[in-house]
Amino acid sequence: MIGLSLWLAAGCTPTDTAEPEVLFKVPANFPEPLYNFEANPITNDGFELGKALFYDPILSRDGSISCGECHSQPSGFTHHGHDLSHGIDNRKGTRNSLPVQNLAWESEFFWDGGVIDLDRVPIAPIENPVEMDEKGTNVLEKLRTSPRYPAMFKRAYGSEEITSAKFLKALSQFMLTLVSADSRYDKFVRNEGETLTPDESAGLTIFKQKCASCHAGELFTDRSYRNNGIAIQGDDEGRSRITANEADRNKFRVPSLRNVAVTGPYMHDGRFYTLDAVLDHYAEGVQDTPNLDLLLNQNGQRGIALTKDERRQVVAFLHTLTDDTFLKNRKFSQN
Ligand code: HEC
Ligand code: HEC
Repeated sequence: MIGLSLWLAAGCTPTDTAEPEVLFKVPANFPEPLYNFEANPITNDGFELGKALFYDPILSRDGSISCGECHSQPSGFTHHGHDLSHGIDNRKGTRNSLPVQNLAWESEFFWDGGVIDLDRVPIAPIENPVEMDEKGTNVLEKLRTSPRYPAMFKRAYGSEEITSAKFLKALSQFMLTLVSADSRYDKFVRNEGETLTPDESAGLTIFKQKCASCHAGELFTDRSYRNNGIAIQGDDEGRSRITANEADRNKFRVPSLRNVAVTGPYMHDGRFYTLDAVLDHYAEGVQDTPNLDLLLNQNGQRGIALTKDERRQVVAFLHTLTDDTFLKNRKFSQN
């Protein structure tokens, strides 16, 4: 080992022995991914191209807003501190930014599941008038005439030709590598020597009993659309916007809770600024909304019974889902 690092330090690359870098790996405690990697194999050059695009404001009409603006790494690739995300000309969006993480395990995207192919997700923010307000065709034209992109497309795809399919697939390649599976919780469940404090451990037990029916499994979502009893505000009808089914009104996708301590504010409209406020909601604030989930309305009892101590313990547990390795990995950073 020492010999090898000296060799590297001396500037020689041991090409015969070096393993190609693995950009995507299924963590041992995760299920099989849902993304079709065969149709878009991740390569180093594809990753680099996708990352450059993700952080480049050239994708917006006036060159002011990149994807990374609303999906910032230290905040779990969400829009730090914004209830509703802000886009071009400081226009206010209608929803809270979602984390860009572990997307290989999702097959439906956005709070209402309105897009069902990761490769098509970027079209929405690019063309949304309150986000990047640009036409896809203009983006491709700007990339074709830019000094850096034709060569990057050539490295990634073997030719300088820039098409929307290549553009979108490169963005997916970068986003797919954003895997968060190295939190203290992960190391604890994988028996990697991590321990939980008594409060965290009690919080995990409560979480499994009272939250995991919806925030299920290692991704902390059962991928369904539900109404969790937050008071109806504004005119965002959620899932029924996609299905046109009244039974889906006010239902939103159950979000993952990985890195939740840094992805606030919370809920589809960012109405709660702290995890304490979220727990207070489940314990005391659940409203009798149309389509309220039955799990939150049992035997005439609304909400989830939780003492103040139990709420504190659940919050302590939720903090163990923060993955500093992921949030600080320079490979995913802008610079
Ligand atoms: C102005 C802020 C803003 C910009 C710019 C932006 N996004 Fe988003 N992003 C959001 C919001 C808000 C949502 C949730 C939208 C919804 O549910 O309707 C979201 C959702 C997503 C999701 C879905 C995550 C999930 O789990 O469903 C992905 C992926 C994503 N954005 C990628 C991108 C990419 C790639 C770009 C650049 C092309 C981009 N975003 C630009 C605000 C933004
Ligand atoms: C009946 C299903 C259900 C149960 C049970 C449930 N949740 Fe949720 N949770 C949801 C849904 C749906 C949302 C998104 C609601 C929205 O934005 O309108 C959500 C949102 C959240 C959020 C906000 C995440 C974010 O990124 O904005 C947190 C935190 C959360 N839940 C924690 C918990 C905890 C802790 C428990 C147990 C005390 C719990 N939930 C129980 C369905 C559920």
